[in-house]
Amino acid sequence: MPAVSRTLTVSLAANLALATVFFMMATRNREGLQGGIAAVQRVSGSSRVLTRPSRTAVFGKVTEPEMKTYDFGWMEDELISPGMGMSNKDRPLIDQRARPRRNRRTDGMRDMVRENFLTPANLIYPLFIHNEPDNVPIPSMPGCERHSLESMLNEVGEAKAEGVRSIILFPKVEDDKKTNFGEEAYNPDGIVPTAIRMIKEKYPDMLVITDVALDPYSNMGHDGIVENGVILNDETVQQLCQQAVMQAEAGADIVAPSDMMDGRIGAIRDALDVEGYSNVSIIAYTAKYASAYYGPFRDALDSHPGFGNKKTYQMDPANSREALLESDLDASEGADMLMVKPGLPYLDIICRIKDHTDLPVAAYHVSGEYAMLKAAAEKGWLNEKDVALETLLGFRRAGADVILTYYAKQAARWLNGKD
Ligand code: PBG
Repeated sequence: MPAVSRTLTVSLAANLALATVFFMMATRNREGLQGGIAAVQRVSGSSRVLTRPSRTAVFGKVTEPEMKTYDFGWMEDELISPGMGMSNKDRPLIDQRARPRRNRRTDGMRDMVRENFLTPANLIYPLFIHNEPDNVPIPSMPGCERHSLESMLNEVGEAKAEGVRSIILFPKVEDDKKTNFGEEAYNPDGIVPTAIRMIKEKYPDMLVITDVALDPYSNMGHDGIVENGVILNDETVQQLCQQAVMQAEAGADIVAPSDMMDGRIGAIRDALDVEGYSNVSIIAYTAKYASAYYGPFRDALDSHPGFGNKKTYQMDPANSREALLESDLDASEGADMLMVKPGLPYLDIICRIKDHTDLPVAAYHVSGEYAMLKAAAEKGWLNEKDVALETLLGFRRAGADVILTYYAKQAARWLNGKD
């Protein structure tokens, strides 16, 4: 057979085969259609009947109006291919033009329209330190330890390797160094200034943040000086200024006053400026609530209040407008960032402060929030990685630029595709 006619024969055969397939499909379709109609008839007594406006009604054309009736009962028989059996298969079953699910249809689509992101650079890693050679685990915060200074350095290095750019230090101070005035807070050879110098020497570009408050140094377990059961404001602020200046001198990049005394941001700003540290930033604990979620943190540092509670200086959990008042004050006194604490139960406060200020906003995912997640994960009740990352992303969505979290190193590892 000549080459040309052989090609012809082959293509003829192929066409014939195709035509057969089409014919079979058409037959099946017709059967499907009839099946569909039969189904409608079978169930029409009990099924929902939907009436939709005609296209002419929708588009306002002056032509013959058409009303169509759709019966959903037949779908029960036609689940595999719901389009089959419809008289007009180009039209969707329900009258719905806006379909948000289209933007969620594929990974690529979801990636394209995502509104918020979480990166290791958004995270601040809190570290507990003590002046002892060995680490001590914190039972109510699985995975967290009070670090020796050597181990702290190691932990900083590991977090940095995962892209975490900043840490915040919390010291456990020996009981015999605690006083009502908390003088140890500004001892140049104290644990915090020593730790800062060690980190800055080894990792100069790691951002080192320090907590400014008297509680780790107070024999009363309060954030300020106590007189007759009252936490003194202005006298405490004097101490905080000395503490912040000492931390700046040791190399802190950012000081973070967590004490909630009135006027402390302005006073600390002035003290830093006068002493030549105008480049040192202040993250104000702006809306810090008197919260039961700090329990595990106080276990970690053995810093439970010696008497009473912290309600005369930390905020009432019932209030939100007061957070805006604090935010105005801190901003006007020179704060560089405003923090909300705790985080998850106060997402509304994060959102309100974010709307209220042009400063960056930080959120503290505190010890009790971490403990809850760890406990549920240990019981196998929650998927730890998924829930932790969802929680941290939730902070970002609420408006937090920065998140302090004990999950920082682990979350960064997860974000980097590791275990
Ligand atoms: C100290 C301080 C506390 C926390 C941070 N800084 C405890 C408190 O105010 O009693 C709590 C952090 C946490 O729970 O993770 N002023």
